[in-house]
Amino acid sequence: MQKGYILSLESDAWLFHADLLVDKAHVVMLEERGIISSEDAAAILNGLAKIAARGRDFVERELPAYEDVHTAVESVLIREIGEEVGGRMHTGRSRNDEVATCIRIAVRDELLGLAEEVNKLRRALLKRAAENVETVLPGYTHLQHAQPTTLAHHLLAHADAFARDFARLEDAYGRVNACPLGAAAFASTGFPIDRERTAELLGFDAVLENSMDAVSTRDFVVETVSCYANLGTNLSRLAEEVILWSSAEFGFVRLPADYATGSSIMPQKRNPDYAELVRARAGTVFGCLVAVLSICKALPYAYNRDLQEVTPHLLRAAKTTAASVAVVRGVVAGQEFREEEMRRQAEVDFTTATELADTLVRETGVPFRTAHKIVASLASAERGRPSLRKIDEFATCVAGKRLSELGLTEEKVKEALEIASNIEKREVKGGPAKKEVLRMLQARRSDLEVDERSRVAKEVKVKRRLEELEREVEKKRIMP
Ligand code: ARG
Repeated sequence: MQKGYILSLESDAWLFHADLLVDKAHVVMLEERGIISSEDAAAILNGLAKIAARGRDFVERELPAYEDVHTAVESVLIREIGEEVGGRMHTGRSRNDEVATCIRIAVRDELLGLAEEVNKLRRALLKRAAENVETVLPGYTHLQHAQPTTLAHHLLAHADAFARDFARLEDAYGRVNACPLGAAAFASTGFPIDRERTAELLGFDAVLENSMDAVSTRDFVVETVSCYANLGTNLSRLAEEVILWSSAEFGFVRLPADYATGSSIMPQKRNPDYAELVRARAGTVFGCLVAVLSICKALPYAYNRDLQEVTPHLLRAAKTTAASVAVVRGVVAGQEFREEEMRRQAEVDFTTATELADTLVRETGVPFRTAHKIVASLASAERGRPSLRKIDEFATCVAGKRLSELGLTEEKVKEALEIASNIEKREVKGGPAKKEVLRMLQARRSDLEVDERSRVAKEVKVKRRLEELEREVEKKRIMP
């Protein structure tokens, strides 16, 4: 016998709390509908309270002896209060709808918790951005110096990505928080159960209607883990920048002590291990997503035991993602930015070339493509700041024109080559100019408040409903 093969202890421990909620809501509803007597409901609810009180002890001692958490709770209940009464708890339901309901309850909590973490990260990014509206940064494309920008503009870019992650999590929540309970094995039940009532008691926003769909689908898991994977990608990109920026080659960042590690041999080391693991664990989460998709793919309806294998991947992805968000927030909040180094690098490699070309267009009316050719030939031949005389030389060569004769002045050239004026000119919507960055900062702050309020409202709604469930349970626990 290989009984251990069919267990999934880790995710069953994760579902323990949810399983007790589902049991309680189901028993309350069975009693309300007259499917079981008030006496039996009271005895079952008292038995469940004893199991709940055992907490970790139950999980550690009892769980491993049974096929899964649902069987463990029911079996121990029957052991304690006898089958004549305890054997009525599972009336009108199946482990198939039970487990699907438990997973949705557990993942709903994970989603709300993660969304809170994401919002804290957004807040940390907005704070660091506000401190760095004037901090000049070389912007990169292909990891080569491209154009000057500001650190605030850069950090706001990451904050916007995490705002979309929040929106995705919230959207997923809407589809997660629907209740499969009452679908039973897949064909529902002939008992006059009330699916709306259990859904309400458990804090769900809706009943997942078609009973076959309700037990068969794990698309909410695919969707949730997809959100994690997307978020993981965004986290890994920020982490990668921390890794690069904290290197001697960049020297833009000093890692916070709590998020840097030493070396067992090299005494001088301050390694970005935390950021590296954020980068790596995005990969772990992608693995979970591929596992979930692969397990669900081509399963015939309705329930198959394969679905049990999905849950540990969901759990791993949820915990991994939440931990990574918290780490990235710590790094963002605590890292020390080296502004002088950023400013120094912002000048390197002719980052003002685009603005110079734009200036040629504005001042002389040459087409942008011609201006591009002139500045490109200058950039590849010249080191240092080009003068008006040099520009004329190259323009004559490339375009047969002397731009000073067409209105280009020494002053305009000088302005084009100034980092500050490069940034300030880029004041179109979403650009790095101070005015625009301040506007975005303000807008993002208020978006964040709206998002956090909407998240808290969901949390409060669930909490209230579960308190209502507890009140019903307490009423019914008193033997009539
Ligand atoms: N632990 C199982 C799961 O996660 C519970 C459902 C078992 N149902 C069954 N028909 N064998 O899916």
